Amino acid sequence: MPALVLLGAQWGDEGKGKATDLLGGSVDYVVRYQGGNNAGHTVVVGDQKYALHLLPSGILSPGCTPVIGNGVVVDPSVLLSELSGLNERGVDTSKLLLSGNAHIITPYNVTVDKVTERFLGKRKIGTTGRGIGPTYADKINRVGIRVQDLYDESILLQKVEAALDVKNQLLTKLYNRRAIAVDQVVEELLAYAEKLRPYVADTVLVINQALENDKVVLFEGGQGTLLDIDHGTYPFVTSSNPTAGGACTGAGVGPTKISRVIGILKAYTTRVGAGPFPTELFDEDGEALRRIGGEVGVTTGRDRRCGWFDAVIARYATRVNGLTDFFLTKLDVLTGWEQIPVCVAYEIDGKRVEELPYSQSDFHHAKPIYETLPGWSEDITKAKTFEDLPKNAQDYVKALEEMSGAPISAIGVGPGRDETIQINSFI
Ligand code: GDP
Ligand code: IMO
Ligand code: MG
Repeated sequence: MPALVLLGAQWGDEGKGKATDLLGGSVDYVVRYQGGNNAGHTVVVGDQKYALHLLPSGILSPGCTPVIGNGVVVDPSVLLSELSGLNERGVDTSKLLLSGNAHIITPYNVTVDKVTERFLGKRKIGTTGRGIGPTYADKINRVGIRVQDLYDESILLQKVEAALDVKNQLLTKLYNRRAIAVDQVVEELLAYAEKLRPYVADTVLVINQALENDKVVLFEGGQGTLLDIDHGTYPFVTSSNPTAGGACTGAGVGPTKISRVIGILKAYTTRVGAGPFPTELFDEDGEALRRIGGEVGVTTGRDRRCGWFDAVIARYATRVNGLTDFFLTKLDVLTGWEQIPVCVAYEIDGKRVEELPYSQSDFHHAKPIYETLPGWSEDITKAKTFEDLPKNAQDYVKALEEMSGAPISAIGVGPGRDETIQINSFI
């Protein structure tokens, strides 16, 4: 019963979509377990480029059943338009399964996300504005709307009333906005019910039965370890658990079932939105990483902040996720630098610190301590084996592996499916 978790080891956008798609051909189910359409996963198949936000990247592999698990927050309008967009391009989406326990991102959750950010002013998180945080807040406050509620009109009405009771007070009295009408929300949500019905399933049962029948199940994380609500750079995080444990709660599988945890790790670092980022570059190197790496957000179109590789963060990701492997992506982007600095530790208040400090105040003024590794100038995008890489690129990978605490089992040398060096098999 191979159950693999594939997740981001940094601040998101590590190339999870490509890695999931690559495995899609040999996997029976791909399950998203947290997050929502704040994710933006780019997958390149041949000359076709797909941007997925809510759907698991396995949707592009014909033999694979894509599943949206209970831990995901679902904007029905986004889901339906993503499905029809793929159908128009000839992708069969009929196998999709959607958990009846997944929470719905309602229009008022999106409004609250936007007004809260505006209200925070310069203290804002820089969210994607997709209603993610407020929807998870409703879930925890026990006033959330679940997919299954769409099939019981009177319950839906009561729940929307309960959810809007306090929110309308806040919207009108604090944020100076118009109140949101219960009937209008209920009507909008009911309009999605029949369109979504073919996909709704008891996904926990399906996934566990698949594992019992020796099917291969891949759990695809959105966002990344440092954006985790518990283990990330709080409060500059998302509102779910992208870390490995999130796969268990967000899909309904026991930890004893998970056989492998693969961390997707970019050969340098990026982050979108506000929050600390020790190796961030503000010079022409940062500009070059952004340009060569195409580091512009898939969801919001914002420029990603760029910096050198941070081994402290990679070690942390190994620890909190129990990583068994790394998939190193975008090594090709570093081609052409004579020297490549890598952060091996931090300096905090004049002291060398080897591990991620648990204190936010320390992390906010951590200064990177760099080791510089020799670069390479040869084109590596055609490399098929580790030995095809120039010696300095091999040494860079080996150094990162040594510092990060788990074997690098695959290396991305370009955005395409076939631009990958597989060192150890994942299944
Ligand atoms: P995700 O959110 O983790 O799925 O990552 P994104 O799709 O937001 O960002 C990763 C970007 O890098 C996408 O544009 C991918 O097509 C691209 N990409 C993935 N792996 C590689 C690689 O090895 N080399 C290059 N050059 N691009 C890659
Ligand atoms: P993928 O799956 C990068 C960031 C936002 C913001 C913070 C909170 O493509 O890796 P939210 O809307 O989730 O409440 O915003 O998290 N963020 C991401 N950054 N990649 C993502 O997803 C992200 N999803 C959310 O920029 O800083
Ligand atoms: Mg992304």
